[in-house]
Amino acid sequence: MPEATLGGSAAAIWASEGAEPGTDGALTRAGGVRGEADIALGSEELAKIGLRFEVDGKIATITLDRPEKRNAQTFATWSGLARIGRTLPEQVRVVVVRGEGPSFSAGIDLRMFTPEGVPGQGSFASAAVLDGDTFGERITEAQEGFLWLRRPDIVSIAVVQGHAIGAGFQLALSCDLRILADDAKFCMKEPALGLVPDLTGTKPLVDLVGVARAVEICLTARVVDAGEALRIGLAEQVVPREELEAATRRLASALLTTDRDAAAATKRLLQGAVGRTLAEQCAAERAEQAVRIRALFGGNAAGAQEPSQV
Ligand code: CAA
Repeated sequence: MPEATLGGSAAAIWASEGAEPGTDGALTRAGGVRGEADIALGSEELAKIGLRFEVDGKIATITLDRPEKRNAQTFATWSGLARIGRTLPEQVRVVVVRGEGPSFSAGIDLRMFTPEGVPGQGSFASAAVLDGDTFGERITEAQEGFLWLRRPDIVSIAVVQGHAIGAGFQLALSCDLRILADDAKFCMKEPALGLVPDLTGTKPLVDLVGVARAVEICLTARVVDAGEALRIGLAEQVVPREELEAATRRLASALLTTDRDAAAATKRLLQGAVGRTLAEQCAAERAEQAVRIRALFGGNAAGAQEPSQV
């Protein structure tokens, strides 16, 4: 697998992430103005950073495709993921995130810990001398690769076999749902390496298992196997390894049986529920339902309260 270098596509992706949006007036799916960073990467560019992206009707599949390095992730991986999110074809409703080979992902590329770093992408040592703002911007850009997987207009499914360590565990946590093979193993290794999990994983982990269990899992950096993951809410399904693909297909198909707009509105409601009082949640339900009923049965939209204002 060719390494991404600063002079090559990875750097172009990395550099362009922070670029100002273009002024051609075209709108992205997320509603922003389309710029260079919103142009979809071709399969060759994705291959250089160890990613594959395939669309089959309403289902998109992202594959971490560096099995010989257990799908170790780099900044280019995260920029690539962000770019896929920004350029996701309009028809896609389900996004499957999977890893090629024996492991879902061994986490961050360990070359980041060496003085040489990842060719063209620096190292932790080179990041350590960045000023606070630049450093924060880099992490924000990396987090962007994970955050879009929670968007209400899609449902994301992490399909995990073998190890999902550090950034791998966080990538699985950034998806709405997790299907595991019976050999799956989660591990939040960061604290053992002197780091914190910063790729958007801490909130979903706490939301799923509670603060106490999350503290125990992270601060021991222990392995959570598939059976325990299912028991404590880190997985929706565990299946024998050879059935993982079929189980994923079945779940994706089932998710497509509901109305697209109703599904997005329901996901918005469910995502907002934890942060709202019962009264606020009831108000949010009323607002979303008013939009649905007007959309389905006509009527005057004037006076309808936008769900986002509730
Ligand atoms: N980075 C770079 N290369 C890696 C890697 C990683 N994270 N994990 C594995 N590899 C490479 C190995 O060096 C090896 O390469 P060579 O064949 O060239 O020697 C190849 O992948 C296969 O590795 P193993 O022989 O170890 O494979 P395995 O199947 O026996 O074990 C594993 C798999 C348990 C994942 C093991 O490779 C492992 O423990 N890897 C390191 C995991 C790790 O500590 N990751 C960091 C997590 S912290 C994090 O992610 C921080 C963050 O977000 C900021």
